[in-house]
Amino acid sequence: MTAYPRLAPFQPRVFSGMQPTGNLHLGNYLGALQRWVAMQETHDCIYCIVDLHAITQGPEVWGGPEGLRKATREVTAAYLAAGLDPKRAIIFNQSQVSGHAELGWVFNCIARLGWLNRMTQFKEKAGKDRENASIGLYDYPVLMAADILVYRATHVPVGEDQKQHLELARDIAQKFNFDFSDRIRDLGLESGEYLPLPEPLIAGPAPRVMSLRDGTKKMSKSDPSDYSRINLTDDADTIALKVRKAKTDPEPLPSEAAGLKGRPEAENLVTIYAALSGDAPEAVLKEYGGGQFSRFKQALGDVAVNHLAPIANEMRRYLADPATIDAILFDGADRARVIAEPVYRDVKEIMGFIHR
Ligand code: TRP
Repeated sequence: MTAYPRLAPFQPRVFSGMQPTGNLHLGNYLGALQRWVAMQETHDCIYCIVDLHAITQGPEVWGGPEGLRKATREVTAAYLAAGLDPKRAIIFNQSQVSGHAELGWVFNCIARLGWLNRMTQFKEKAGKDRENASIGLYDYPVLMAADILVYRATHVPVGEDQKQHLELARDIAQKFNFDFSDRIRDLGLESGEYLPLPEPLIAGPAPRVMSLRDGTKKMSKSDPSDYSRINLTDDADTIALKVRKAKTDPEPLPSEAAGLKGRPEAENLVTIYAALSGDAPEAVLKEYGGGQFSRFKQALGDVAVNHLAPIANEMRRYLADPATIDAILFDGADRARVIAEPVYRDVKEIMGFIHR
């Protein structure tokens, strides 16, 4: 059995993941990847490509075996191109570490139907034809809890839409600690010291990146119009063109933030400019307010190209060499297993499974 140091408060560890589906875009970069890169400087980080989660919606959504392999490598390439360092952070695809699915099963027996019935994302994704949704889609948040807790991770950078799933992970951790408190004491720990209650790190001031065609909708990989988003693989000409074509309104840009109220498209472009340049939105408006959109769009196009074109190039470079990508995923999985296996072994011990 593992001898644990007293871990209350727990040793901080970051875990997060993205599904290997479809195009990664500017919203994924500014909302997630850029923050993940910053966190690897200060924390032990594990960044996963959640391929087991990807298959919850049927092959027409996840793309079948060829599509899944391609998307897994694409997301890995995006992680690397955005600046995640595979020597520092652990980068791997979920299905390589069996502890996720194994702990997921134990958690299936801890989580209650009533808890899952409250999950709003399942309702959205299942849509009207709920009877026909996969059980995996329903169970998705339980596997997500296992992803995090098999590493006893304490901090989880996610978007607002994942907050409810994090609360479920906390409920599962708490019930596990409570139900097996005697067994956990046998490990020499207080019950609350076995599974941490993971904290969501919701993007505080991080930008909400909206569609370039409709400033009231989130930028999304499923929007039928490719002009609604800037993909991380877009080349310089495409980026510049999409910015030029972005929807605006007939008024000039305001000089102060208050003037953006009720003008979602203008607000979105200013937000994107600020996020990419590192300037405050107020400073951006001071510079470009009062002028025509065309001048601002020209500047935004330049900032976007300067920042994103190198990432796209780097992604292409990795994608031309899939063997290197796979080697990074194998190495990441080996290191992830080293952390996950003792935790899962303890869970077996706690539950009374006979094991070596
Ligand atoms: N559900 C997350 C999303 O769609 C992806 C995910 C799976 C995840 N497991 C996770 C995120 C664990 C954080 C931690 O965005």
